[in-house]
Amino acid sequence: MANQLCIVLDFGGQYNQLIARRVRECGVYCEIRRFDTPLEEIRALNPTGIIFTGGPNSVYDSASPHIAKEYFDLGIPTLGICYGCQLMAYTLGGTVESCERSEYGKIDVTRTADSLLFTDVPAESTVWMSHTDFVSRLPEGFHTTAHSADCPCAAFEYPERKLYAVQFHPEVTHSVFGRQILRNFLFNVCGFTGDWVMDDFIADTVASLREQIGDKKVVLGLSGGVDSSVAAALLSKAVGKQLTCVFVDHGLMRKDEGDFVEETFTKLFDMQFIRVNCQQHFLEQLKGVSDPEQKRKIIGTEFYHVFWDKIRETGADGFFAQGTIYPDRIESGKGNQAGEGSTDVIKTHHNMVKMPDDIQFAGTIEPLKDLFKDEVRAVGEKLGIPRELVWRQPFPGPGLGVRIIGEITAEKIRILQEADAVFRDEIAKSGIESELRQFFAVLPDVRTVGVMGDHRTYDHLIAIRAVTTDDFMTADWARIPYDVLARVSNRLCNEVAHVNRVVYDITSKPPGTVEWE
Ligand code: XMP
Repeated sequence: MANQLCIVLDFGGQYNQLIARRVRECGVYCEIRRFDTPLEEIRALNPTGIIFTGGPNSVYDSASPHIAKEYFDLGIPTLGICYGCQLMAYTLGGTVESCERSEYGKIDVTRTADSLLFTDVPAESTVWMSHTDFVSRLPEGFHTTAHSADCPCAAFEYPERKLYAVQFHPEVTHSVFGRQILRNFLFNVCGFTGDWVMDDFIADTVASLREQIGDKKVVLGLSGGVDSSVAAALLSKAVGKQLTCVFVDHGLMRKDEGDFVEETFTKLFDMQFIRVNCQQHFLEQLKGVSDPEQKRKIIGTEFYHVFWDKIRETGADGFFAQGTIYPDRIESGKGNQAGEGSTDVIKTHHNMVKMPDDIQFAGTIEPLKDLFKDEVRAVGEKLGIPRELVWRQPFPGPGLGVRIIGEITAEKIRILQEADAVFRDEIAKSGIESELRQFFAVLPDVRTVGVMGDHRTYDHLIAIRAVTTDDFMTADWARIPYDVLARVSNRLCNEVAHVNRVVYDITSKPPGTVEWE
């Protein structure tokens, strides 16, 4: 790939991936690297610009991540953010001190000098600050370009050396002109051309996949999730029928979802499609099991048993493809701790599959390994994957298995699938879908007494769950309007056999989790 490169050098801040995503949104290809990446390696990567991230430490702490002074002799345009800003000043001979009062939240900054970094940014603007230390004396050659009430050097620079620093976080949307400041750095200071374009990505990737695969075959495990679906569409465009997608349907997907996946990929895309229907097998394996972790383990293990058995049957000649995406390969936020935060620490993730020893492909192909999720979706839309799949909400690998509390039976799966479909239908009609990050029904395996007509009933309780969240680490229950809840409740009791009561889960995370199991 011949794109210009921006490196985000990771000093352990919480917004590291966000910075990289913002840079990509500007049409600039960006990768995250550890703070201690050797200088020769950085030079060899030939980046057009580098951004130092924030971090939780103080530059005076010997255990903090530092950078060699020689870095600044490389002549690479650099923007330091928060800790990165302090580090730039400290390393080049400036002074960093602790503030009497930490600055946290939305703060107004005033520009005090013209700067390429502040082109088209008003003299007064609101930014997001989160720091205790601040730069109290600049290194030689630098001058201040902005200050806040409590921070004398909110922005400073040495334009002749293309070194820029901001104490605030331009990557966070609360920094009103943050995006403009990043654009200014990328385009005005570094001279990026904005050559990271999804149409080009598709064309380049298709060409390189064709070259790599030649006339060999490729096998991809398709789950119906966003990543594997987009990988499948891309591979289909590249090599058509040389691609075989294996779709293991464990029967724990949402209502009609298996059929939808099959229809999409057999009708819209050129490929060999194998659907392995093994609902019965999973039910047998799960019989009598009610412990959540055991259920997860069985579903995960059996899934790969079935999958690899199918591969053995079809033959493992050619390549094995996976829908790994960039965040699967990086662990951000811990760049200051030895051994962590490294791009070579691979997270255990359902996308990254361990292959049995007896199965040997010629190689592995990961066509989406450099993309963030929003980029994967953009590629998916351009390749013509239906919106329902591209914008699919997160769905756990064990599927409805972790939404049926206690033992899983065919009857409970049916009830939950029906209930979940009704709930999703009402949310879609209500116009609030885009406000919710995840919403679903749960079968708590509780029966309650009810009355229907003149009869007493003793039937299932359905719980509905809807959350808003940025990152799923914390989540809040969604304030769904009462009239929507009322329609959902009515329809669930009227349309889904053996449901006679509905409750709405009003637990945040923490203390709850998003899923019930
Ligand atoms: P929790 O319940 O941990 O969920 O608050 C956070 C997010 O992770 C999803 N989730 C899973 N995804 N396998 C997955 O692939 C799992 O076992 C699993 N458990 C939870 C959950 O749906 C939510 O989006």
